Amino acid sequence: MIQYMRLGKVPPKQHVTFYDEGKLLMEQCFTREGFEGPYSILYFRQPPTDENAVEILSIPGFCPFEQLAEQPLYRRHIKTQNMKASGDFLDARRVLMLNSDVQMCMVKPTEQSTRFFVNGDGDELYFIYKGTGRIESMFGVTPFRERDYVLIPRGTPYRIAWDDGRVGSAHQAGESGSSGSIGAAGRKVGGAHPTSNSVSPEYLVFEGRGWIDIPKEYRNRNGQITDYAPFCNRDFRGPEKLLEYSEKSHGKAPFKLVVKRDDKLTVHLFKHFPHDVAGWDGSVYPVAFNIHDYQPKTASVHLPPTIHITFAGNEFVVCSFVPRKVDYYDKDGIKAIPCPYGHASVHMDEILFYVDGNFTSRKGIDSDSISLHPAGIPHGPHPGTYEKSIGHDRTSELAVMCDTYKQLKLTKFAHELEDKDYHLTWVSKEAGEADTPGAR
Ligand SMILES: [Fe+2]
Repeated sequence: MIQYMRLGKVPPKQHVTFYDEGKLLMEQCFTREGFEGPYSILYFRQPPTDENAVEILSIPGFCPFEQLAEQPLYRRHIKTQNMKASGDFLDARRVLMLNSDVQMCMVKPTEQSTRFFVNGDGDELYFIYKGTGRIESMFGVTPFRERDYVLIPRGTPYRIAWDDGRVGSAHQAGESGSSGSIGAAGRKVGGAHPTSNSVSPEYLVFEGRGWIDIPKEYRNRNGQITDYAPFCNRDFRGPEKLLEYSEKSHGKAPFKLVVKRDDKLTVHLFKHFPHDVAGWDGSVYPVAFNIHDYQPKTASVHLPPTIHITFAGNEFVVCSFVPRKVDYYDKDGIKAIPCPYGHASVHMDEILFYVDGNFTSRKGIDSDSISLHPAGIPHGPHPGTYEKSIGHDRTSELAVMCDTYKQLKLTKFAHELEDKDYHLTWVSKEAGEADTPGAR
């Protein structure tokens, strides 16, 4: 959804005969917003429609998830450091919070997978917190590295093949012991385990129910990214090559495609590998963008978070806070305060995923923490951090923020990971005064 791209062979016109080794290929128009929006056209060697069985699948914590029944309004801290890793990229996915526009999940897989996945509920924006690997889809192979965002359009069949420390590991999903077969409870049996010196992968996922794209304000009338946007067309990386089936990597029939729609899963079984594409073109396909390619803006005095918007969806935005120079106003003894001012963004809930660096405005927060500051309650720097920031000229913080207009509801799973005293950490204490007892 960034720019036009072509990979492999396509005929000179759409909707005309196109043969590969004497066989007429099946054209698929992959369209958004009916037939009015962006689209791509793919040419399949095997029709992607020849499924021969459908099964129901349940992955507790993902589909279905349990929402917290009562959610008193206070500032929250979800310690995803304590989330246990288990299963492939689907079994390991857990919904943390949601509203009707966006759903946020954390994924900590331990096993490779031969399963492909389609999200029929929305576009997906991965933030690769840890690990490297590649997205394999009908559009081809999109490598990713740590700190990448990976935007996957709704309806795209894909799997994640992550590097597990072995030579060529991302190519070996499905080899001995990881046949990808699904047991009676729908869980994958077997699987390749990472070696002790590998990085355990960890992903934050935003599922945009309407859409996710770069903000329209960053495009000119031709759709090109403007020169004043915080990134350029060259920063977005599409698939590098077409996907080639191999039994070693993708297993044998039946090939499994897990489809999500209305937060329910079905497994579709195919006799033939259904992602064998001879070529495609268009402007809908997965893209990767590294957060360090984001070009931050700084002014003489503090700019609001709006200046850091990277992606937008229906009634929510995703912002990138990257290491940067900070505000530099200094005149007649009056200086800028680089630390964010206290604020009550009265229309929006705000979550912040802390990635790396020094989180100057927060106490008790570490990498892999998620804070939720709900609309209606002012928030800002912890006592002392505001004053300490004066005179600093740089910040090393690296964080991903999501602001939503509708209230975010926690799942029971997220609640179990909560630091339940976080909202009391703003309380000023007199010398010698004990910590305030925690409230729930
Ligand atoms: Fe904020």
